[in-house]
Amino acid sequence: MRAVRLKSYAKVNLGLEVLALRDDGYHELRTLFQTIDLHDDVVLRPRPRDVTVRCDHPLVPADGTNLAARAAEALRAYARVSGGVEIEIRKRIPVGGGLGGGSSNAAAVLLGLDRAWKTGLGPAGLHRLARRLGADVPYFLLGGTALGLSRGDEVYPLRHQVRAHVVVVDPGIHVSTARVFARVDAALTPRANSNSIFCFVSRELEGSGRFRVLVNDLEEAALEEAPALREQVRRVRAVLLGEGACLAALSGSGGSCFGLFGGARPAERARAALAGEGFRALVARTLTLDQYRAAWGRGR
Ligand code: C5P
Repeated sequence: MRAVRLKSYAKVNLGLEVLALRDDGYHELRTLFQTIDLHDDVVLRPRPRDVTVRCDHPLVPADGTNLAARAAEALRAYARVSGGVEIEIRKRIPVGGGLGGGSSNAAAVLLGLDRAWKTGLGPAGLHRLARRLGADVPYFLLGGTALGLSRGDEVYPLRHQVRAHVVVVDPGIHVSTARVFARVDAALTPRANSNSIFCFVSRELEGSGRFRVLVNDLEEAALEEAPALREQVRRVRAVLLGEGACLAALSGSGGSCFGLFGGARPAERARAALAGEGFRALVARTLTLDQYRAAWGRGR
């Protein structure tokens, strides 16, 4: 095995519905995932025996509890590989921001080692290992615009892939996903399934107006969990919508927010306006299923 360099992309949730609490403590979801080209850099270097991890971010564990290290251990045990690997992660995706960075790193390690160790499992063969690592990990085996069902780990690419500019805003507030879901339970009452994602999919030919039907059922719980976030989200959303975003939302359980734009110019205007108000904001682009796959095909 030679050293392998990987790009580990972030996701946003264009919409997220929480349907019910499951017997296993997780929640039954219906979510629309979207990869964006904001990415961490991951380097895999062969080592004789051990799996080790290094990361330049103080909040990311540099031991066996790191999800990327667990991914390598899981594949090594499953495929009976005797060699080890050193995983180096250079973070660009905000940590604990609802952008899926940890899950993406784990999926990148699975895909990268599957190739480097010639275990030949591919996304389909890696799916079981991925879902054991976390609910969002299987999505990152596919990427693009995709529907996530069950715990979010049953993933179906959508025929219509979203192409847009995405302004990502990191308020720097870490929100615990587990605590946000626990808060949702207090408000979760049996109800008829919401149909926002069905409406979105069925309106896919109607232009940017279709994004308005999407909701994020975690938003209120996230804002209760991190009260400092509420005012920030209000201000960010006002700028994004004021600059013409067709969707302005919290990603997953937050704290990162994003706005979706049809063009580079309004996206850049929104980024500049947010930076002017003191927010950390950047412009990314969506990655379609094919673009995500092509990035892997090139060997990265
Ligand atoms: O699977 P993962 O460890 O990424 O999920 C983090 C936490 O989010 C879980 O421990 C669980 O509390 C919550 N969660 C959930 N239902 C889901 C996905 C995540 O309750 N479908």
